Amino acid sequence: MENKKVIFSGIQPSGSLTLGNYLGAIKNWVKLQEEYDCYFCVVDLHAITVRQEPKDLRKNTLEVLAIYLASGIDTDKNTLFIQSHVSAHSEAAWLLDCFSYVGELSRMTQYKDKSQKQGDSIPAGLFTYPVLMASDILLYQTDLVPVGKDQMQHLELTRNIAERFNNLYSPTFKVPEPYIAKEGAKIMDLQDPTKKMSKSSENPNSYILIMDPPEVIRKKLSRAVTDSVGIVNYTDDQPGVKNLIDIICCIKGISTEEVVSQYANKGYADLKKDVAEIIVEELFPIQEKVKELLNNKAYLEEVYKKGAEKANYISRKTLRKMQKKIGFIQ
Ligand code: AMP
Ligand code: TRP
Repeated sequence: MENKKVIFSGIQPSGSLTLGNYLGAIKNWVKLQEEYDCYFCVVDLHAITVRQEPKDLRKNTLEVLAIYLASGIDTDKNTLFIQSHVSAHSEAAWLLDCFSYVGELSRMTQYKDKSQKQGDSIPAGLFTYPVLMASDILLYQTDLVPVGKDQMQHLELTRNIAERFNNLYSPTFKVPEPYIAKEGAKIMDLQDPTKKMSKSSENPNSYILIMDPPEVIRKKLSRAVTDSVGIVNYTDDQPGVKNLIDIICCIKGISTEEVVSQYANKGYADLKKDVAEIIVEELFPIQEKVKELLNNKAYLEEVYKKGAEKANYISRKTLRKMQKKIGFIQ
């Protein structure tokens, strides 16, 4: 137990989760829980960097937690918690804000993308978002951070902030490494397969939600954009088909070559139909479990309270170290 490496990851409860979140993040976490000391967080403080309806935020927060559990994350082996229940995250974020530079934060592509949608009123929290993420990670002396490729830049920044603080004072934080699984690293938008699948897309046909009913999944797949080549190949020239193959590989744990050979004499209609069934088969049992868990609020409360207790204890230790080194009276 003592010498297990530490993993930290989180997902924002800013909407319903997509197949991209599931294959890019949660499904990999389930595989890691045996080997590592894992902290899986519902990052609600991050979610309020864009406006949230209070009742939706409450609903989505519990739904994300229920999805973690329903996907197979074991509460005996891992620490599952809600970010706002552990105040060290907000406190450490302020401290680290003072060790982060406006220049480096301005270069974050997620900030550039998201701030464009905010008109003239860009919340300052959207700008300092990566510093809160760095705090999440550094408070737990994390070794590895399993995320999708889109989060690489934020991780690089986290490493820079950690090294800067360590060099200014003395070693305080472990400098974390990214952990990007090969499969599912980037699931693409079904309508525009050059963009990543995201819950913030305006067209619901672009994404599959983890909680989409089977008939909706089938309909969305039947409308997935492919190309006019007509042959199932795994190549960047056919991004729509490539994405469908990736989804199969990720769920079934088979290679792209295997999938391509299975479709040697078949067309796109067969491929789309099969992908829909594979997704339904994977998600349906999870959906049933999520519904059951959401009807058992007492159990969810037990889980997040227990998680917060452990997370509070661990994160406070690092926070105290930071405060002491900075020169606060303790
Ligand atoms: P977010 O929804 O931005 O909070 O992302 C939560 C996690 O899901 C992060 O680890 C992301 O890298 C991952 N993720 C989100 N969208 C995708 C996608 N389309 N493909 C793969 N991973 C994704
Ligand atoms: N920024 C991440 C995302 O949008 C979510 C996140 C917040 C996170 N804190 C984290 C991921 C800490 C890994 C570790 O996907």
